[in-house]
This record gives sequence, C-alpha cells and structure tokens, in this order.
Amino acid sequence: MVKISEDFILQLKGLCDIVSVISSYVDLKSSGKNKKCSCPFHSEKTPSMVIYEDTQSFYCFGCGVGGDIITFIEKIENLSYVDAVKFLADRAGLAVPTSELDDKISKQRSRILKMNKIAAKFFFNNLRSDVGRFGREYFAKRGLSKDIIIRFGLGYADDSWDSLKNHLKSNGFSFEEMCEADLVLKSKKGSYYDKFRNRVIFPIIDIKGNVIGFGGRVLDDSKPKYLNSSDTPVFKKSLGLYALNFAKNSGSKTLILCEGYMDVISMHQNGFNNAIAALGTSLTESQVRLISRNSSDVVIVFDSDKAGSIAMDRAYKMFLDIGVRPKALRLKGAKDPDEYIKKYGASRMKVLIDQSKSAIKIKIDTIEEKYNLEDVEQRKDYINEYCLIISNIVDSLEREVYIGELCKKMKLTREIVTNHVDYLLKKKRKKYNKKIDRELIKNVKLEYAAKNMHSKYDRAEQGIIRFLYNNPDYINYLSEKFDENWFDSDLHKKIYKTIVDKINYGSSLDFVAFHSVLDVDEMGIFSKIVNEGRNYANTNRELDDYICVVKEKYDEKYEDISSMTLEQIEQRRKQNAQKKR
Ligand code: CTP
Ligand code: MN
Repeated sequence: MVKISEDFILQLKGLCDIVSVISSYVDLKSSGKNKKCSCPFHSEKTPSMVIYEDTQSFYCFGCGVGGDIITFIEKIENLSYVDAVKFLADRAGLAVPTSELDDKISKQRSRILKMNKIAAKFFFNNLRSDVGRFGREYFAKRGLSKDIIIRFGLGYADDSWDSLKNHLKSNGFSFEEMCEADLVLKSKKGSYYDKFRNRVIFPIIDIKGNVIGFGGRVLDDSKPKYLNSSDTPVFKKSLGLYALNFAKNSGSKTLILCEGYMDVISMHQNGFNNAIAALGTSLTESQVRLISRNSSDVVIVFDSDKAGSIAMDRAYKMFLDIGVRPKALRLKGAKDPDEYIKKYGASRMKVLIDQSKSAIKIKIDTIEEKYNLEDVEQRKDYINEYCLIISNIVDSLEREVYIGELCKKMKLTREIVTNHVDYLLKKKRKKYNKKIDRELIKNVKLEYAAKNMHSKYDRAEQGIIRFLYNNPDYINYLSEKFDENWFDSDLHKKIYKTIVDKINYGSSLDFVAFHSVLDVDEMGIFSKIVNEGRNYANTNRELDDYICVVKEKYDEKYEDISSMTLEQIEQRRKQNAQKKR
C-alpha cells in the first residue's frame, strides 16, 4: 500500500472544493445548506445524492455510495486511490511528490505499459518486414492506406508461438510479466507461448497515448474473428473506447459511435475523425457516461444486421437513461459503415450523418415498416410498440409531442394514448425499482445491506460514532462509559477505533484519515454515519441512551451460558450464526 502523506492530501483537498469538482460531472441543485443531484452511480430520476459542503463529503441515499472528493473520483473515473489523488492533483496543478508513488502496483503498471509499447512496435515492424506479407495483403484488401495504418499503429503478429515472447525476453521482461500483460499465455504443462498469432493487430491506445491492450483479427474466416487482451492492471475493457484518443481532439462536439474497430478506422480514413467504438464488448454504462462527458451529441451508426439493431435498441435506451438524446442512422445497402463508405463514398456517409435523426424517431420509423397498418390486429400491435418506445423518453414534454403524433396518425383520443403510456411507464418503473434494489445490494457492503439498516442497534452504534466524530472532546467520557468491544458490527468498531486513534494522536478527522482503513464501499457507510441527522444526538443524554442500547445487545449476545443446557447453547450458537449472515 502506497503512502502519500496526509499533509499533502489535505493541502490538495483544500484546493479541490467538493461542490465545484462534482458540479463538473453533474448538475447540482441547492437543498437547504447542502447541494443535491441525481446520483451518477446508479440510474435514477429523482435526485438522491447529497453533497455536504461543511464536511466536504457526499452520500447517495439511493445506492449507499459516499465519501469525500477522492472517493467520488475513485468511483466516477474508475481509478485506484493513488490514481484518484493524482488525478485531482493534475486538475489542481499540484505535483504529487513522486517518490511517494513508487509503490508496487504503479511500478507493475508502468512495466506493463512499457512492455505493451515494445510489443506494439514489434507488431508494427512485422507488418513492414518479410514475415508481415500476409498482414500487408490483408490490410490492402480492406483498402487501408499506409497513412491510416501508421496513424492507428496497426501491426501483424506472425504465425509463431514464440516470436513476441523471445523479443520481450531480450528486452528484459520475465514470462510472469508477459502473462500479467496478457501478451503471453501459460499452458497447462507450464510452458509459455504468444497469445496473438497470425493476426492483424489493433493496438488500443488511451487518451494519454498509452498502449493499454490489443485486439487481433484473423486473416480469414476462422474463429474467433477477434481476440482481445483480457483485463490487466492497465486495461479495463468495459471502461475505454476505441479511438477516443483521436476523437477527443477532432475538434467536433459530436461523437460517432460504431460497432467495430474496422468501422472506426475506415471512418477516420475518410475524414470522420470523431468515430469511436466499444472495446470488443457490448456497450457498458461506463462507456455511455464517458461518451456523454466527451461530447454534446452522439450519433449511433451500428451494423445493419439483426445483431446491430438489437445492440442499437440497447444503446439508445442506455443513453436516454442518463439523460442524453442520441441520434442514430440506419445503413441501407451495406452491412456496416466500413462497407457503406466503400460502396457509396464518404460524401454520402457525411450526408447521412448530418441528417441523422433522433434515435427515437428512427425506432418509430422502423416499426412502421414492420406492421401492415391496414390490418386491425397489427394496428393494435403497432400502437403498443409505439407507446413502448416513447415510454423510454424521460422528458415529459417530449413524450407529449410524440403522443400527439400517434393520436393524429392513428386517429386516437389523447386520453386513451396517455393512459396507455402511463401504464407502461408504471410497469417500467417497477422493473427499474427492482434494478435499484439489486444495485443497492451490489454497492453497499453485503454484510451491511443484509442487516436491517435501521434497526435500533445499528442506529445506536452509528449514533455513538457520529457523536464522537462531531464532539471529539467526549473521548474521555466515552472511554469511561463505553467499551469498543460492545459493537456488534465489525465495521462500526473499525470506524470507531480509527476515530479514537486520530483524536488521541491529535490528527485531523478529515475523511482522508479513513482512506487507509476503509475501502470505497465502507466509505459510503462512513459518510452516511457522519452526515446523516447531524442535527440531533448532540446531548450526552442521547449518547447515554445509545450506549445503553448497544450494551444491552452485547449482554444478550454474551449472556451467561453456565446455567444453560447443552441444547440451549447449541441453539443460541445457531441463532448467532444466522444473525451474522
Ligand atoms: N468483436 C470481438 N470478438 C469477436 C467478434 C467481434 O471482440 N469474436 C468485437 C470487435 O471489437 C469488433 C466488433 O466486436 O470490432 C464488431 O464485430 P464485427 O462487426 O463482427 O467486426 P468488424 O469490426 O466489423 O470487423 P470486420 O469488418 O473485419 O468483419
Ligand atoms: Mn462489422
């Protein structure tokens, strides 16, 4: 575990006001003396995340995420603690004392990045040498220019089990390191061999210009068509976007989201420098957020086959859910953007993109083609599907407009359609609430969520913690009247002990002090305890009540077993075990 001095982090936090940092990610509203916003960590339509200026912390009452500004950055940028500190330091123009970053993990990461760079260069050079003939022929067949091959750093892995392995070895890397980078695999018998063989290579480059992973495509029809790096310490497939490094600097506020690597490259070759794609996975929520943060407009251009239209259905709803209205276009006469440009040219593609309509409208046009509106049954199905589509619209005014369109077109009364859409909305909301419950359990520590969060005992334990946090001078009072072993929850005990230690050492009780003892999930619980209901429980009479309740529970748990029969003891043991679960 790396140590960055608390002094430095406190100084940094002084420069990164939680309200101003969070407001660069989400819109904030005032709520009393605090700020409120829709939580960016779970989908929701009414704001349940509160930002407390005085404690410089936040807590979401919907999903239990909380902490200080560092926790916020850890979560939203998907960074480790150290990287989140670095990220904030960058933002504030402070340099993190570098020696303090020399921990094992960041060393390992920089080794992997170095190795990836060497591997990318190796693949790139292959493409220009004798072994690269098949790769060259392949890219030529796909119509890629020399220029674009260089810009994307495309390469070729030759048909050998050990050429990259040997090359990396001669550069001083161990087989274990090569495996950590997922460039070399280990067989069951314990021998090492190259992962990418006889494939053209697409290096994946992040916005800082690091090669973080690779995709490799076969030259023929064999399977699997693409092989991608698995997740490594420097690569998280679900988080990045292909070619965002270029698209971010394209000067356009629009991003064009395609399905495949080849589509993106073909688009860039033809002047669409703002094309991007997911990294060999179906689109994830993090990627959707990343897109919305880097553009004001997104156009989805997926393949025209069945799979493409299913992916499109999923994608546009994901955008709507986070309040972005995506545009989309359907390609006719070609299976994907790459083929479309080859067949019809870039200028026609440009027209299509310029004229792209909202994804909702496209969806509605598609179903109109699907149904025969002369047929009564099919008319009914059409109306239902139309309503289903518009029930995805978050904005009620926009929904009204579409309702009006449907009424006009199908000669229906407004009341009938509105009722039906309302019914569908309600159904959707039910499903959505279930999803929230699942997320809640996922986000909040299981041990904590499974228990009744609002049990009398939990409230009392948390009350004691909150009291001490806000009234450190009560430490002597508590040490006389209370024993930390009375806590039923190990987490509460851990938090309490940390607070006591800090007070005894005269250190600050800023959240910074808790990062080394609590993980990100536990931070949420800590934030809740500290911030919730700070206005009550400020008299020591209440404190005494809390102590009583906690003690009572403790005594009950450890009641004298000398007078019990063996069966009673066994039964008690089972009960306790069940409570623990
Ligand atoms: N993909 C993958 N693994 C596969 C198939 C696809 O990771 N076995 C990912 C790749 O990122 C690919 C994208 O899904 O780029 C889209 O797949 P597809 O349309 O089949 O590939 P294209 O990129 O269009 O490639 P090509 O035009 O060469 O067929
Ligand atoms: Mn394709």
